[in-house]
Amino acid sequence: MKKCELLYEGKAKKVYTTEDPELLIVDYKDDATAFNGLKKGTILGKGAINNRVTNHLMKLLEKNGVPTHLVEEISDRETVVKKVTIVPLEVIVRNIAAGSLAKRLGLEEGYKMKRTVLEYCYKDDALGDPMVNEYHIMAMEYCTKEELDLIASYSLKVNEVLTDYLKDLGIELIDFKLEFGKTSDGTIVLADEISPDTCRFWDSKTHEKLDKDRFRRDLGGVEDAYHEIMKRLLGE
Ligand code: C5P
Repeated sequence: MKKCELLYEGKAKKVYTTEDPELLIVDYKDDATAFNGLKKGTILGKGAINNRVTNHLMKLLEKNGVPTHLVEEISDRETVVKKVTIVPLEVIVRNIAAGSLAKRLGLEEGYKMKRTVLEYCYKDDALGDPMVNEYHIMAMEYCTKEELDLIASYSLKVNEVLTDYLKDLGIELIDFKLEFGKTSDGTIVLADEISPDTCRFWDSKTHEKLDKDRFRRDLGGVEDAYHEIMKRLLGE
């Protein structure tokens, strides 16, 4: 499979068409951005790590009944995926208060909430991805009620599977962001990535941050944190 035309270039990935109209190739970059593109930088090796970590976790999720867009990893940085129409929502799943939720509700980072929280944000860079609820989603027809129910149940399943898997590797899954897409036959599948860019991973014992917060907050050791995640998940 080879790349044809550049279809889209985002902050962390390029997406190319292929000879097959149903398939795309994602090419992960080392570029890092935060705060809706206001902070820019490079995290050496990030592209390859995010590609490999995402595919590793998507395979695990497929085995556990969550359909994904993954087709085949073709190089360290490149993966063939199903072409989907992205549902314009970021689904945020939270187990422990951190980041914007801790700030909004005045909670200490690390506060263990009594149950999992699901949030939806409307994907729009110009608007800063505003938070929306089910009513907004239905009123704006971002997706149907049936699709949203499926997205919510897949998101909770992802949380269950990943929390258990990561616990054995000494990683606490604090929160993460998911995106879903619709294939040409209307099937909802998990799309985008699941990586240290899109999840908060804390070391279970020391609570050390092993994710993009090290870049966002200038904590240092950014590359080391990404490599540590790769080592624990893939043994390299
Ligand atoms: O910033 P906030 O606390 O809302 O982020 C919640 C989770 O969603 C974090 O794991 C963060 O990495 C992820 N996220 C993301 N992309 C965004 C917003 C949040 O991956 N645009």
